[in-house]
Amino acid sequence: MLKSTTDRYGAIAVTIHWLTAIIIILALASGFQAGNSIDSAIKAGFLRIHIPAAIIVLLLTVFRIVWWWFFDRKPAPVMGSPLWQERLARGVHIALYIVILGMIASGIGMIVLSGAGPIIFGETGTALPNFHLHPPRVPHGLGANLLLALLAAHVGAALYHHFIRRDGLLWRMWYGR
Ligand code: HEM
Ligand code: HEM
Repeated sequence: MLKSTTDRYGAIAVTIHWLTAIIIILALASGFQAGNSIDSAIKAGFLRIHIPAAIIVLLLTVFRIVWWWFFDRKPAPVMGSPLWQERLARGVHIALYIVILGMIASGIGMIVLSGAGPIIFGETGTALPNFHLHPPRVPHGLGANLLLALLAAHVGAALYHHFIRRDGLLWRMWYGR
């Protein structure tokens, strides 16, 4: 089933969720590697992975918002959860969307203001600018850590449900019955 039902996510939502999860992890890993690289050529190499990964995340997230907005409805909250947990889960999901879009906006801001695009994707040999001289570097660094904290809460909650509450929550976000 492509669309979600009241008790589980549909195939489209499941596919976007797990594809996004894998590519965000790639964006985070390549981003921290780039941020920690002192050598300009090595940093550029990580950014050649980082930026395309982030652009794919952007496309998936836009598609995801359109999908939920116009074509599909989220399942009801999992049975037996207290109201505060439902609200917290919803808040974390919304915060994930906002932080992801904020990371993409600040990333684009850094590239535009620094003019580093052609150096990353073409003119090998030219040294990269110092991204810390451009204001969007600050929210990009803070957002990266906020995203890690949100993901830790999100994954922790999913594992708590699945293995401690034993309500099979992970299966809601997987294919089939
Ligand atoms: C790494 C990036 C991840 C992001 C950005 C993310 C984001 C989200 C969002 C926004 C939702 C709400 C549904 C939606 O809006 O489509 C959701 C649901 C869910 N996520 Fe993730 N997720 C990530 C990784 C993971 C991982 C690694 C796990 C498992 C360990 C996981 C388990 C779940 C589950 C089980 C649900 C369904 C919750 C429910 O039944 O209501 N997610 N995720
Ligand atoms: C899902 C979206 C994104 C995530 C999760 C992400 C994550 C990260 C992380 C974790 C870092 C390292 C931060 C640090 O060391 O403090 C970083 C650095 C960086 N990101 Fe992103 N990023 C995203 C989108 C983008 C986009 C769209 C661009 C450019 C168009 C971009 C350009 C950069 C650059 C240039 C750096 C290196 C800054 C430096 O070396 O000082 N990012 N990113």
